[in-house]
Amino acid sequence: MDFHLKTLELTNFMKFSHEVFDLSKNLNLIIGPNGGGKSSVLEALALSFQLKERGNSVTNYIRKGTKNASVILECEWLGKPLLIKSLFLQKGMGRKIKREVEYDGQKYEDTVANNFLAAHFKEQHNIVSFALQGKEKFISNSKAKNLQNLVDILQINFTKELSLVKDILKENYTKKETQLHQQNNIKGSLQTSSESLNNFKAALANTENALKNLKNPGFVLSDLENEILNTNTKLQNLKNVVAQNEKKKSEIIYWENEAAKTKNIITQKENELNRIPQNLEVVSTDDLEKESKEITANLQTLNISFREKISCISALNTKIDTENKRINLFKNGICPTCERALEESQKIEMQNSLQNLLDSKVQEENIKNELGLKIKENENLSVEKQKEINNIKIKNSEVAHSIQIREMLSKDIEEKKRYLESVEVKLNSLKSEIFENVDDLEMSTLNANLIALQEKKNLQMNFQNEKILKENEIKKTQQYINEFELKVKDFEQKEKEVEEIMSSIEAEINKWNRVTDIFTNIPKIHLKNVLDDIIKVCNSIVTDFGYKDLKIIQDEKGLEFILGNWPLGDVEEADITYEMCSTFEKSLINISFIYALAKMFRVPFICIDELDANSDDTNTNKLGDLVLEMLKTVPVVAVSHDSNLVAKMLQDAQSVSILKMEANRSNNV
Ligand SMILES: Nc1ncnc2c1ncn2[C@@H]1O[C@H](COP(=O)(O)OP(=O)(O)OP(=O)(O)O)[C@@H](O)[C@H]1O
Ligand SMILES: [Mg+2]
Repeated sequence: MDFHLKTLELTNFMKFSHEVFDLSKNLNLIIGPNGGGKSSVLEALALSFQLKERGNSVTNYIRKGTKNASVILECEWLGKPLLIKSLFLQKGMGRKIKREVEYDGQKYEDTVANNFLAAHFKEQHNIVSFALQGKEKFISNSKAKNLQNLVDILQINFTKELSLVKDILKENYTKKETQLHQQNNIKGSLQTSSESLNNFKAALANTENALKNLKNPGFVLSDLENEILNTNTKLQNLKNVVAQNEKKKSEIIYWENEAAKTKNIITQKENELNRIPQNLEVVSTDDLEKESKEITANLQTLNISFREKISCISALNTKIDTENKRINLFKNGICPTCERALEESQKIEMQNSLQNLLDSKVQEENIKNELGLKIKENENLSVEKQKEINNIKIKNSEVAHSIQIREMLSKDIEEKKRYLESVEVKLNSLKSEIFENVDDLEMSTLNANLIALQEKKNLQMNFQNEKILKENEIKKTQQYINEFELKVKDFEQKEKEVEEIMSSIEAEINKWNRVTDIFTNIPKIHLKNVLDDIIKVCNSIVTDFGYKDLKIIQDEKGLEFILGNWPLGDVEEADITYEMCSTFEKSLINISFIYALAKMFRVPFICIDELDANSDDTNTNKLGDLVLEMLKTVPVVAVSHDSNLVAKMLQDAQSVSILKMEANRSNNV
């Protein structure tokens, strides 16, 4: 079973003040002189599982002269640590064993702790057995007052263990699943990594090949660049000259245009000038004005005379009227006033006076008409003179205008001519500035050279770039390869690790599967079968020691052991009851019985006190073999006094711890 003893710490327990024993999970041999404390150690183990050995008094376990004792047993059960602390208190709390149990991270105290132990060990397991003290002791310890009782006790209810084991199994399966998952992941990663590695290796080979096949055009880049620079400079110079020429040419065209335009304007203006008559002169009107003035003066005088004549005529007319009236009054020759007839003379005189007046009036009117004619004549003359003056004045203003235009045109022409002159000067200078020695052939040669050089440069550059690219690619790919090699190695390592973990889990699962099998397949123990089986196992042992068999009979008193013997040689055989047996034979019966129980039931470990105390050399040796056999199924803690046996065990047992007790007597060495 999975029960490992680890350490036992005793404090003020029986003769021990303080002692820590390292225990083996296989065989523990306790050696030492009488009274050394060997049995006490076994008792501490038994007590840890609530099996009382030396009476019921707690005080018996406390070292004389001290008050409290403690036993701490550290072990492992079903793969988990189990710690059992037992405190022996002399005072208070009813003089009892105070218990503390820790299992699987859980802590139990006092009653709960005892219940835990009872539930898991005491009632269901027969844990510790003592060989020396004989069957009575064993039976009283295990409460097996009779075999039925014993079997009832041994009739282990495995449900708890089974569920525990199943839990462990489940846990292991979960672990296995996780590991499987991880393993699959790792396998996947390993495969992808390996594939990538191969791909990178292939890519590396390709690139290396490509690099080898790259052809170096063999140009010196710096030389090419210098040449390109030179050619470019030359070309640029030429281009500059051409550009300048082009600029000048366009300027010339502009100025030539300007000159033509100006010439045109000049011709136009000259034509206009020619159209203007040559000898233009302003005629004086002074004489004419003078004449005109004279005429006007005449006219004034005439007009005055004319108006005088008119007033003279009008005065005459008035006189004539007055005369006419007087004549009319005297028409009948009678004076109106005095009514006397007029004398002829008076009539003639009146006629003469009227006639004189009429004659003077005709005379005056003649003069007046003459004057009127003269006025008319002078007025016509004056108008004509004025017309003549006006005509001359109009002509004069036209001449003045023409003269003005002629002057303007001449001025313009002069200006344009000056401008034309300056344009021609500019044109001449521009024409003289044009470089006529631009060689088109040279330019195209330079251009062609440049293109050729550039091509060479490109070729060389391409080669170098390609080379660098390939080299970089190689470097990178190599890096990838290294990385992936590491990855692959890592994954392989991980795969191995997981495999190891898997196999350990698998082993664990197998182990626990076996345990489950055992638990689930253990048949209901039938009394007869159990006894038969026990007897079978016991017989296999006692026959080894030269006995015929061992019968075990069960009655109301308990178990009866009968050893088949040939005490009188091989003729007669005898059945020897337990009471009749020799000390060694009793020991043998006890050991074989315990061995049978341990083989058939779940016993965490076996204690055998005084294993070899009563055996001769031959039997001691055989007992050693028996213990070795026992160790295959259960850990053993045994007290031995035989140095040969100890030596044999040290040599043959898998792992042995020797617990050496010190003497506490002065005569013991
Ligand atoms: N409570 C106690 N306080 C002190 N000493 C005790 C106490 N109980 C027992 N002893 C002594 O402890 C010693 C060890 O006894 P134990 O039975 O363990 O010896 P042993 O090594 O098995 O000896 P043997 O070889 O005789 O079987 C004995 O001398 C015993 O008297
Ligand atoms: Mg003893």
